Amino acid sequence: MSINVTTEQGVLTLTLNRPDKKNALNKQMYQQLVEQLQQAVKNDTVKVVLLQGSAECFSSGNDLADFLQSGELNDTHPTVMFLYEMAKFPKPVVAAVAGLAIGIGTTVLLHCDLVYSTADCRFQLPFTQLGLCPEAGSSLLLPLLIGHQRASSMLLLSEAIDGNEAWRIGIVNQLVAKEELLEFALSKAKKLAALPTDAVQSSKKLMKSGSAVQQAIGLELADFSRLLKGPDCQQVIQQFFKR
Ligand code: COA
Repeated sequence: MSINVTTEQGVLTLTLNRPDKKNALNKQMYQQLVEQLQQAVKNDTVKVVLLQGSAECFSSGNDLADFLQSGELNDTHPTVMFLYEMAKFPKPVVAAVAGLAIGIGTTVLLHCDLVYSTADCRFQLPFTQLGLCPEAGSSLLLPLLIGHQRASSMLLLSEAIDGNEAWRIGIVNQLVAKEELLEFALSKAKKLAALPTDAVQSSKKLMKSGSAVQQAIGLELADFSRLLKGPDCQQVIQQFFKR
């Protein structure tokens, strides 16, 4: 299993565990995440989800080999299902991020409620470099969060930022030392889990405008699917594996 699952004091911790590929997310991992999120919605004992990698690495993004053979990105595709599950997930999600947060490793954070990171973590959205376009509602959420110009340097120029900058512009709540990151994020998740459930979930619902985000995800997927099959993307990914 590439997703480790533990539960403690109302916190369901989902840990990306594919260290040999820097926690690149493949179809099977998306499938597991979707199953866990769907079960978590129905399970009243789960109050909060904590999403994390290791203290060394969060995620190098979507598995590039999967991109080469992704098939149709329709509503039954595990990646697409994961994006919609995250966008509409009613319980708070806390993220602990270290090392790398590439592609969906960053865009998934836009659906999380509290994000804790190390100062040297690398956040990058290399969609245009790959001949692709934004996904996961990031074309809507990122400019809203950090402003159009800053979002353009990430989404158009594919430029990376570190944790310090991610904290400064509001992608990250707080910077935490690597050795303390996972423990710290868990303590925040437990703090949330101990608060009145209805009040917390109502507050999250009021802060999130789900329909606009879901519409953005759909619009992005139309372009993303076309670009994924295009010559630029195929060439860049083949080049990556020939290094
Ligand atoms: N998909 C599939 N495999 C990946 C991957 C990804 N997104 N990111 C890393 N890997 C694999 C590498 O192929 C390598 O596998 P190997 O040991 O079998 O050759 C292993 O993970 C380690 O990666 P490596 O590139 O050697 O590590 P690094 O520290 O030098 O560089 C990255 C790390 C993340 C900068 C680099 O791997 C990279 O650019 N990955 C692609 C990121 C990306 O474009 N993601 C998609 C965004 S939409």
